Amino acid sequence: MKVGGGLTCTVRIAVLTFALALSAVLLHASPQDPIILQVTDNHSHRKFAGNDLLGTEKRFQSFMKKYGKEYSTKEEYLHRLGIFAKNLIRAAEHQALDPTAVHGVTPFSDLSEEEFEKMYSGVRGGGGFGLEGVVGTAPAVEVGGLPDSFDWRERGAVTEVKTQGICGSCWAFSTTGSIEGANFIATGKLLNLSEQQLVDCDHTCDATDKTECNNGCNGGLMTNAYNYLMEAGGLEEEASYPYTAKRGECKFRPDKVAVRVVNFTNIPIDENQIAANLVRHGPLAIGLNAIFMQTYIGGVSCPLICGKKWVNHGVLLVGYGAKGFSILRFGNRPYWIIKNSWGAHWGEKGYYRLCRGHGMCGMNTMVSAVVTQTS
Ligand SMILES: *[C@@H]1O[C@H](CO)[C@@H](O)[C@H](O)[C@H]1NC(C)=O
Ligand SMILES: *[C@@H]1O[C@H](CO)[C@@H](O)[C@H](O)[C@H]1NC(C)=O
Ligand SMILES: *[C@@H]1O[C@H](CO)[C@@H](O)[C@H](O)[C@H]1NC(C)=O
Repeated sequence: MKVGGGLTCTVRIAVLTFALALSAVLLHASPQDPIILQVTDNHSHRKFAGNDLLGTEKRFQSFMKKYGKEYSTKEEYLHRLGIFAKNLIRAAEHQALDPTAVHGVTPFSDLSEEEFEKMYSGVRGGGGFGLEGVVGTAPAVEVGGLPDSFDWRERGAVTEVKTQGICGSCWAFSTTGSIEGANFIATGKLLNLSEQQLVDCDHTCDATDKTECNNGCNGGLMTNAYNYLMEAGGLEEEASYPYTAKRGECKFRPDKVAVRVVNFTNIPIDENQIAANLVRHGPLAIGLNAIFMQTYIGGVSCPLICGKKWVNHGVLLVGYGAKGFSILRFGNRPYWIIKNSWGAHWGEKGYYRLCRGHGMCGMNTMVSAVVTQTS
């Protein structure tokens, strides 16, 4: 199954309709609801939904200041202001649908949908359908005796949050993250590994669906990348093959390989199995539907609806917790801890928390672990 603009659009329209209906209910029920106040700050929702241009422009200017944004012409400024206003409305809709998280202004609030899609629709062949049986799915592991909470960051297996830029290379970051973790567990050394090698050199196609090929800034799959690395001989370090956020000529040098990939495995969709494999193998590469991540600021994201079929973003599962403090009335929830590649200014210092146990946003459908060997 392909993730195309059409399908994404269908989801969005459905979400919007539902969100609008729901926000109408919420707004009507409790105008002083902190959910609403969060998104609208000091403006009443009526003003917000209507024509509070001055207020919007003020928020836009503080956004520019906060994130050091500059626009070279008045036209560009107005264009970005218009996009920003639309994104405020989208944030309010997401807030209504996802009340245990906080949605609002993010570093990407001046990006249009097309620009933003480049950052999240980097995983192609979504849904995880068709993955089963391509390579071995890991045999079930013992799930008893797992800790209540677990975080590979505390154990030194996770590099700093990276920034993919306006390039659909999330699949490469998800891949390097899982290899960095596996290599750390095998050797005790944490290395930054090269996404650019994958962006430039990996054109591997899926074994069953030959049309699903890794394609630089236009998307790819983590499992294809593991196959490429097993063939190519391994992965260089970031320092020897630095990231440029653009596809270029392949400059891979086999003599510079830092880590070799020996094997990889798909993890079953059962979230207890995913937790057990996470603890056993290290951080796992996963795909998910990123629609709620556009406006995400913090908290445990647990949207009322989030299409499971439209997996479009590759990220890294690094841990889980038993009780996520949720800001509002829905109480504590168990959650996953997910490393993203949109820089440390996005989300919770670059991380996303997603509620656990519901196959939320398809996060359980495209999970893989990798086995490495030092060169
Ligand atoms: C925003 O609203 C809060 C609470 O109603 C108030 O204390 C604060 O002064 C307001 N801020 C501005 C900038 O109007
Ligand atoms: C690779 O992983 C698969 C799936 O887990 C397993 O069946 C296979 O034996 C492994 N191959 C090697 C060479 O370790
Ligand atoms: C990885 O690269 C980042 C950014 O250059 C750097 O801050 C960090 O220390 C590096 N981590 C390791 C383990 O080398």
